[in-house]
Amino acid sequence: MISVATKVNEVREQVKKWKKEGLTVGFVPTMGYLHEGHQSLIAKAVEENDKVVVSIFVNPMQFGPNEDLASYPRDLQKDSDLCESTGANLIFHPEPEEMYTDGFCSYVDMSVLTEELCGLSRPVHFRGVCTVVSKLFHIVTPDRAYFGQKDAQQLAIIKRMVLDLNMDIEIIGCPIVREEDGLAKSSRNTYLSSEERQAALILSKSIKLGQTLVEGGETNCAKIITAMTDLIESEPLAKIDYIKIVDALTMQQIDTIDRPVLCAMAVYIGKTRLIDNFIED
Ligand code: PAJ
Repeated sequence: MISVATKVNEVREQVKKWKKEGLTVGFVPTMGYLHEGHQSLIAKAVEENDKVVVSIFVNPMQFGPNEDLASYPRDLQKDSDLCESTGANLIFHPEPEEMYTDGFCSYVDMSVLTEELCGLSRPVHFRGVCTVVSKLFHIVTPDRAYFGQKDAQQLAIIKRMVLDLNMDIEIIGCPIVREEDGLAKSSRNTYLSSEERQAALILSKSIKLGQTLVEGGETNCAKIITAMTDLIESEPLAKIDYIKIVDALTMQQIDTIDRPVLCAMAVYIGKTRLIDNFIED
């Protein structure tokens, strides 16, 4: 059975032992309710490191007051089975009080990259992500950490944070894992009714359309976004939060595709907010 540590010190002691033996440590931070997207990160970490730690922590600090913290899905037993069968060695599953002790008041607050895309509609989100990921990096002290391209802005932010704050950790980005029909896998897909699940396909269809236009040589961002927007708006259950094309490194909006770009969207299907994106190098 894979061990589940709930205390910071248990993780520290285990990782220290591994490091004394000269073993490398890979780390996959998650909020649990694991699916094949998370599993692809764990599998890559297992491939590239001697030992792998997976954290499962629904981080209250990255949820806004009207977001889904209370209803976020959880299933530790199923998650442990997936971690074990994929070859992970340790799960870190702390209570919020273990991570945020009484009087907690230190934050990692990034500017520029956090001010676009999801940062606009979720103002406290990335402060919570950067703070918890920094804490987890300090606790686990991995050689490498694995993040999905599914959350492309988060991946760019973590890479920037590691660079800016001189954290000695290699950040590895992993491709988006999708359902057979194209929907990007997400723990939040469980919120969708069967009618909404069908409607949600409009995100990946629109992503595909944008990608086809860019690969066909279209460089005018406004034209690409209009075509993608029109397609999303043809779905009555969908409501666009944003569709934008930004510089892949700085997350700042651009008008013409003349460098590596990220085209990202957030769309409500009913009450559920879903994200999808593509990168063009
Ligand atoms: P969570 O949403 O659980 O995602 C954990 C990791 O799995 C992230 O790096 C995310 O990009 C990746 N992931 C999710 N769905 C994926 C998919 N379909 N394909 C590939 N990778 C996918 O992201 C978070 O948790 C949190 O913000 C966290 C980093 C753990 C900080 O709390």
